[in-house]
Amino acid sequence: MSNYNEDLKWRYATKKFDAEKELDEASLETLLDSIQLSASSYGLQPYEIVVIKDQEVRKKLHPAAYEQPQILDASYLLVFCAKKTIDEAYLDEFIENIVSTRGMKKEDLDGMKEMVMNAVIALPQEDKVEWAKKQAYLALGNLLSSAAHHKIDVCPMEGFDPAQFNDILDLGNKDLDSAVIATLGFRSTEDQLQHAKKVRKPKEKLFHRI
Ligand SMILES: Cc1cc2nc3c(=O)[nH]c(=O)nc-3n(C[C@H](O)[C@H](O)[C@H](O)COP(=O)(O)O)c2cc1C
Repeated sequence: MSNYNEDLKWRYATKKFDAEKELDEASLETLLDSIQLSASSYGLQPYEIVVIKDQEVRKKLHPAAYEQPQILDASYLLVFCAKKTIDEAYLDEFIENIVSTRGMKKEDLDGMKEMVMNAVIALPQEDKVEWAKKQAYLALGNLLSSAAHHKIDVCPMEGFDPAQFNDILDLGNKDLDSAVIATLGFRSTEDQLQHAKKVRKPKEKLFHRI
């Protein structure tokens, strides 16, 4: 049985990618499948992810990410975005998907619809986008774990200017707001950080066992 925690110890936030070693498309799809399989509150998946390979686009984004080299050297750049409009129509589309996927009757989901209307759709717009961003972070977490399992390197990144990313990628017109980004590829042998010990809180400080 493979030890999953060994995979997690293997991974690290890669600072220097090997620009010559490209992630193949099948591996990319596997990671995108892992993102698709992420849990989200009520299953609403209130986010979309922009998958960028194009170097010209990445060159434009590079200054807006403090010129972090991962943006250019990795094989792919993913921009996790919160969906800005989470309204009744969005919820209805979600319910339609459940109905067709599980062969249910729409009426069976009336109770669920009412609950989500009250708990999520009724939230003030700002709170809703914050909630959506939290869900996007869960998807990022899934990506990190899956990539570790598949021995693919990732750098999760908050070091970018969301307003500039929104502008450059025209995210407003797609009803999206960038939340967090990640680069995918393979570590360079020159990245010394891969040899550094993990710095983590001791478990006594991390967990309250009651
Ligand atoms: C949400 C998030 C944002 C981060 N932003 C950056 C970033 O902009 N640039 C970077 O080099 N590392 C970034 N990191 C990497 C963290 O510094 C790193 O995960 C942390 O130091 C723990 O080290 P490890 O992931 O290598 O075990 C980020 C990590 C997370 C989870």
